[in-house]
Amino acid sequence: MHIVAILGSRNPKGRTAQATNALLQGASQAGSTTETILLTERNIKRCRQCEDTGWGICRTEGRCVIEDDFAAVVEKIKGADAVVFATPVYFSDLSESMRAFLDRLRRTCMHERGRHGIADKPAVGICVAGGGGGGAPSCAASLEKVVARCGFDIVDVIPVRRQNLEMKKEILRIIGRWLTTGMETFAANETETV
Ligand SMILES: Cc1cc2nc3c(=O)[nH]c(=O)nc-3n(C[C@H](O)[C@H](O)[C@H](O)COP(=O)(O)O)c2cc1C
Repeated sequence: MHIVAILGSRNPKGRTAQATNALLQGASQAGSTTETILLTERNIKRCRQCEDTGWGICRTEGRCVIEDDFAAVVEKIKGADAVVFATPVYFSDLSESMRAFLDRLRRTCMHERGRHGIADKPAVGICVAGGGGGGAPSCAASLEKVVARCGFDIVDVIPVRRQNLEMKKEILRIIGRWLTTGMETFAANETETV
């Protein structure tokens, strides 16, 4: 299985990256290949709401008119067997880079062509509140809403706070293994080892 992680943090070694790496580590230990894309290192502009109606060719062609790195990241997602969307919690919500990317993805996914290679693909969300620690559940609800609208099969969304990061990393490693081996196989193996 190939897993692509889309990271909405600017810190390659920050808390969001650490949580994501725990999932990817569990996945690679179970045999997956993994790849991480830092959205802040890509040129991804915000939606232009092209026409008077508010729509654009996203609606009619399932793609975005803006020529930047958006399409290349979407191709990476389409080539993956599962996707992780990981965002730091800002104001109890998604980071700006994750919001800009998912806002445009959601629009292109309203068309069959845009949804192709995305619909029903397993996705996991990770929301890391690294300040006071509040807002991760609200951020998780926000992430779930937009990722679901794109058509992904959201198998889990994990809220994390600074105070429980180490414990959640353990859970994320297990989720990585579970994603790779498949829920039924995983359940059978775990039962045997209990
Ligand atoms: C604009 C902004 C808003 C933030 N809002 C929250 C918040 O609502 N709750 C929280 O616990 N931390 C908040 N933080 C702190 C970040 O979640 C924290 O710095 C996190 O570790 C960033 O992720 P990173 O380590 O991957 O960079 C905020 C940080 C910024 C810059």
